[in-house]
Amino acid sequence: KAVALAAGAIGKDGYRHYMEKELHEHPSVIGQTLRRMLDPATRQVVLPELPFDLATIPRITMTACGSAYYAGLVGRHWLESIARLPTDADVASELRYREPPLPEGGLGLLISQSGETADTLAALRGLHGAGQHVLSVLNVPESTMARESDAVLETVAGPEICVASTKAFTAQLCVLACLAIATGTARGTLGEERAGALTAALTDLPGRASELLTLREDIQAMAQVVAEARDVLYLGRGAAFPIALEGALKLKEISYIHAEAYAAGEMKHGPIALIDRTVPVVAIAPGGRLFEKTASNLQEAKARGARILAFTDADGAPKLLNIAEQIVVVPTVDPFVAPILHAIAVQMLAYEVALLKGTDVDQPRNLAKSVTVE
Ligand code: G6P
Repeated sequence: KAVALAAGAIGKDGYRHYMEKELHEHPSVIGQTLRRMLDPATRQVVLPELPFDLATIPRITMTACGSAYYAGLVGRHWLESIARLPTDADVASELRYREPPLPEGGLGLLISQSGETADTLAALRGLHGAGQHVLSVLNVPESTMARESDAVLETVAGPEICVASTKAFTAQLCVLACLAIATGTARGTLGEERAGALTAALTDLPGRASELLTLREDIQAMAQVVAEARDVLYLGRGAAFPIALEGALKLKEISYIHAEAYAAGEMKHGPIALIDRTVPVVAIAPGGRLFEKTASNLQEAKARGARILAFTDADGAPKLLNIAEQIVVVPTVDPFVAPILHAIAVQMLAYEVALLKGTDVDQPRNLAKSVTVE
């Protein structure tokens, strides 16, 4: 019903599906979301006034459902590495029943596009009840979660009609990146120069996202291989692992092809037994500290007959030439923001596969945009 209402008010602007339109909104959504938090003159992150001090909170407990949870997993990498802040992340349906010991003055961090997801809302109430401050990353500022939070960081993604999240997910990543920079600065773990480099990398993102959107033909070629498969394995390491999870989820949701994501180093502990020519491996392999490790995992998969389809950047591409059957060269950016571009890339892949499969892209079977019951 929500889709029908919104669809009446918001057109597809000539795109075939809302998903296609929303994918193309990425550059503007990233720009709008960042403008709320980045001062262009000083290149500093300026968050809204918060009723707690990021410098002294002892721990973050992060929770969400679906894609929003995967955004949180990327955020955890950033908060741990940039701000050196202990951060736990769990799906809300588990966290709400887990009873984890929580430190006094800790921070509950909720992530939700709608601000109405029942499990996330219950987890929010549980965190509040346990004496945590509650900060929410939300796309709907009038939502129930917004009302019940101590503070809100807004994703400025606009209405998202397609059930499978695209631009809202990417906007959540942008907000979490800014939160990590602000927290690192407040805690003194992030120097001014590096902070400037990170904000510059973020500021550059809308342009890089526009470039990525022009790579449709390369992604379509990859989609031809994926569309023929019954099972697909997505691999990534570090902050690219949650992007592998997001890619696999998106593929399941809109093309109904079974996909699983694994941390690339964990492949040898099970999924490698499944690998043969019929199970394509989609690699999320941006350049950076973990690239070589991922490449060697891909080599292991190739040696067992897998067809490797790789997302990498200009640094990684030459090194994967002998391993991958197809390579999509994602624009090269600071490894810090690479997960954001790779997220868009895996969403584009899922969309192209769904087109080949002829599924109902915007309204997949059995799924709801917002799950307001447990
Ligand atoms: C549903 C949607 C997903 C979304 C999840 C969480 O399952 O289909 O796309 O990620 O809910 O929704 P939220 O509104 O809390 O982000």
